[in-house]
Amino acid sequence: MTIISPSLLACDFLNIEAELARLEGESDLWIHLDIMDGHFVPNLTFGHPIMKLIAGKSSLPLDAHFMVTNPDFYIETMKDLNLHVFTFHIEATQDAVATAKKAKAIAKKVGVSLRPGTALSSLSDELLKQVDLVLVMSVEPGFGGQKFMPESIARIQELKAKRAALHAHFLIEVDGGINPNNSQSLIQAGADVLVAGSAIFKSEKHNYSETISKLRGTP
Ligand code: DX5
Ligand code: ZN
Repeated sequence: MTIISPSLLACDFLNIEAELARLEGESDLWIHLDIMDGHFVPNLTFGHPIMKLIAGKSSLPLDAHFMVTNPDFYIETMKDLNLHVFTFHIEATQDAVATAKKAKAIAKKVGVSLRPGTALSSLSDELLKQVDLVLVMSVEPGFGGQKFMPESIARIQELKAKRAALHAHFLIEVDGGINPNNSQSLIQAGADVLVAGSAIFKSEKHNYSETISKLRGTP
């Protein structure tokens, strides 16, 4: 089943405990946390203290997406959170293989992400064999509620082919502007994990399970 990772960026922050409770019990569901440092992207979200509170209130795997200039610093500070995924940006590191190896010590899976304008060729074969996940941004990172960039579909297909050629095992995750109208084309292209913020938390009915099923294309 396609994993869905609701991005808390779009949730009701003043009622975050209730929001998390509404997601409990769903299978193949992660919680996507967007950590922004006001430097790598022009927006600032939350860090360790808030993540610690979230970790204490949810039994779902935490999928942390670090949009930060210095991911290595965050590896050190996030040790106790038992993260399921630690994803950093390729544009933010000098030595991505070294960062990935370091992050592996504090998270179950390590992911690498790229901005829409960054060439897939910036991910070396060595890195692709090392990571557990590649996060394809389908909007410019920094804000929720943006429009999906359809060029991402070809990038997913290319990554899927590359994974087969390398006999690599990384999951392909896509993030930004995803809703039930475009999710099927992403799954068909090869996406294993879909991040969705607005589509889930800002849906008219606020029926999260229903939106999650729609995103997966299951009845
Ligand atoms: C953007 C974030 C996304 C964003 C997704 O920088 O990485 O996770 O919150 O939100 P929607 O689904 O609203 O585009
Ligand atoms: Zn994200």
